[in-house]
Amino acid sequence: LLVDKGNHRHFMAKEIYEQPETISHTLSHYVDMGAEKVALRETLPFDFADLTRLTISACGTAYFAGAVAKYWFERHARLPVDIDVASEFRYREPPLEKGGLSLFISQSGETADTLAALRYCAGQGQHVASLVNTQESTIARESDVVFPILCGPEIGVASTKALTAQLTALAGLSIAAGRARGVLSAERENELVRALTALPAAVAKALAAESQIIDIAKRLSKAKDVLYLGRGPMFPIAMEGALKLKEISYIHAEGYAAGELKHGPIALVDEDMPVIVVAPSDELVDKTLSNMQEVAARGGKIILITDAEGAETAGHGISDVIIVPRVDSFVAPILACIPVQLLAYHTAVFMGTDVDQPRNLAKSVTVE
Ligand code: G6P
Repeated sequence: LLVDKGNHRHFMAKEIYEQPETISHTLSHYVDMGAEKVALRETLPFDFADLTRLTISACGTAYFAGAVAKYWFERHARLPVDIDVASEFRYREPPLEKGGLSLFISQSGETADTLAALRYCAGQGQHVASLVNTQESTIARESDVVFPILCGPEIGVASTKALTAQLTALAGLSIAAGRARGVLSAERENELVRALTALPAAVAKALAAESQIIDIAKRLSKAKDVLYLGRGPMFPIAMEGALKLKEISYIHAEGYAAGELKHGPIALVDEDMPVIVVAPSDELVDKTLSNMQEVAARGGKIILITDAEGAETAGHGISDVIIVPRVDSFVAPILACIPVQLLAYHTAVFMGTDVDQPRNLAKSVTVE
């Protein structure tokens, strides 16, 4: 298999730019666009309607995909979700009800801790499902059902297109679960599927903010510490943004739940620490924006990621606003991946790091 960078300087840039296509590709596997319905091709060895809990384990960026999906499964399918990083989950030896469903998310399908978590669950009589990009992997082989990610080979060590494809697949699965559990009406399913179908074009538009992001990244590359804030499904995206920045620019960054700001990190706020707020319009945006104003009032430099409506209500004291298209709040966390990826990427380029092969990191971690 020949994979090249095309016109891009790094694989990571190429993979970021592929996302309108890769998301479409994943969508076409999970969704019947004409009927505006989710159509799973896999035969499920369980019935979503019988489940009392879904247990998700993963590592790194794949963990954040699961952390977003928790909000979706709980909201759209009223299915309680327990999620943990695999290296914690496996040693916790959590009690699991027989016949429950465990889901493992892994781009490579070879991550040692995720595989160990899978084997633990299989040993506890769980139905084992996995979401992988590599169908020939160990995790896929040991699963009762394999949901494909379908984003093509990802070469950059820092995951980008695999995350948005994982999220797209998980969004589809959460709708399927909601339907099976009698939570989602046919009309609501149609609405959610339409939101997903609109996503690739919105992602293409979000990518167009690149020149503005380059300008912000130039300043971000001077920072020693960066704080990312988000609420609800944007909280995992804030953590992913911080992870991406750490991985490739080596700048210390932390992702925090916006509401927890006042319980600690606000003490760090000064004019030297940029605070990136991920807050597209949704039911919770006002709360997040008011947390943001607490940062502004203390002289913090704010970079706000939102849509045009969010920008209008954001208030004063914001250094930069990155506007993404307005989408249904269901798919907003997928869209919000784009600016955080571009910010990390361009900051790393300014820092002159080895973007595709950051120091000390491996694409697939097969040691425990
Ligand atoms: C490594 C990679 C990350 C990835 C994580 C989990 O740390 O550098 O990009 O998110 O492993 O990998 P997996 O293949 O299980 O998704």
